[in-house]
Amino acid sequence: MNIVKRVSLKNFRCHGEFDLNCDESTTLIIGENGSGKTSILEAIYLALRGKSFKGTDKDILKRDVDYYRAEIDLVDAKKIIIRFDGTKKEFEIDGKKSSRLSKSDRYPVVLFEPNDIYLIGSSPSRRRDYFDELFKQINENYGVILGKYNKALKQRNDLLKEEIVNKDDLFSWNVMCANYGTELIRQRINNLEKINEKLTDTYRNIAKNEDICTIKYLGTKVDENEYLQNLEKNYDKDRILGYTTFGVHRDDYEFMFNNKKADGSASRGENRSMILALKFIEAQILEREVGKKPVVLLDDIFSELDEVRQKHLIDNFKDYQMVITSTAVPSEMRVDKKL
Ligand SMILES: Nc1ncnc2c1ncn2[C@@H]1O[C@H](COP(=O)(O)OP(=O)(O)O)[C@@H](O)[C@H]1O
Ligand SMILES: [Mg+2]
Repeated sequence: MNIVKRVSLKNFRCHGEFDLNCDESTTLIIGENGSGKTSILEAIYLALRGKSFKGTDKDILKRDVDYYRAEIDLVDAKKIIIRFDGTKKEFEIDGKKSSRLSKSDRYPVVLFEPNDIYLIGSSPSRRRDYFDELFKQINENYGVILGKYNKALKQRNDLLKEEIVNKDDLFSWNVMCANYGTELIRQRINNLEKINEKLTDTYRNIAKNEDICTIKYLGTKVDENEYLQNLEKNYDKDRILGYTTFGVHRDDYEFMFNNKKADGSASRGENRSMILALKFIEAQILEREVGKKPVVLLDDIFSELDEVRQKHLIDNFKDYQMVITSTAVPSEMRVDKKL
């Protein structure tokens, strides 16, 4: 059931040399702020997903050195080595070199960071990014379509900013935005349904009450034709502003608590329980859809949760491999690494 066996880092952020043996169920890393805890999870994430959740390779590269190396041993005897020489990154999987991780080399990850606790009341772009990352993990194709959509959108926006432009010049980009955009809406709504199917029950399990939780998709819900018409209708406005005002890049997600907006109506604790429920569901959906058990990375969130919620977290993920970072030792837990 466990996936990551060993992590070995060289010149990775603040770590000159670092080694960690991971336990098959729970690994606890303890250290002060700034001691390099998040960086270790970043390396694991990089090996399992092919990219970092917080920065570029240049950001990762330890200051004043010219290469980094991360080696991650997986339990299925796979060895993943990532090297970056200041310009080029390379993955080596069991001796085979490649510039990126293929689908079969990727593993699902449930990452829980302190920022996620505030997802419900944070900005639309933060929520969009959050769900985009999740939906990319659920279905590779979502990421491909999103990439194509963003490219077409950028072309359209670039044209809108040109001094001289003809409305017809935008047509082919409008068609692409409408085509990819409606596919993204379809997948987003479909994935939300899967989450919503479980959200209330999972929440009630944590909170032990009768509240109802759902996540609503806010924004574009149109077919391809209507999407295209909207883009064309907005031409004059978009031209003045210099960007595309209509489309899935502006959509949002709203957490609902007993059919009211959770942001403003649910309490702090209720908000937190909803996020916990979402994380539990992520793990279940990823396991089902991807067919591999996700690794659970909990980055410094214990201080954000009371003891009851901490216990829920550990109990719920007990069948998954967890790598946990914290500044203080949570009650009744064994420390695997002290930084
Ligand atoms: N490329 C880098 N080279 C050297 N140090 C870095 C680099 N990137 C970040 N750091 C430093 O690494 C330290 C540890 O970061 P982090 O892993 O976030 O620690 P923690 O999660 O324990 O608070 C921070 O003090 C940060 O300034
Ligand atoms: Mg940290």
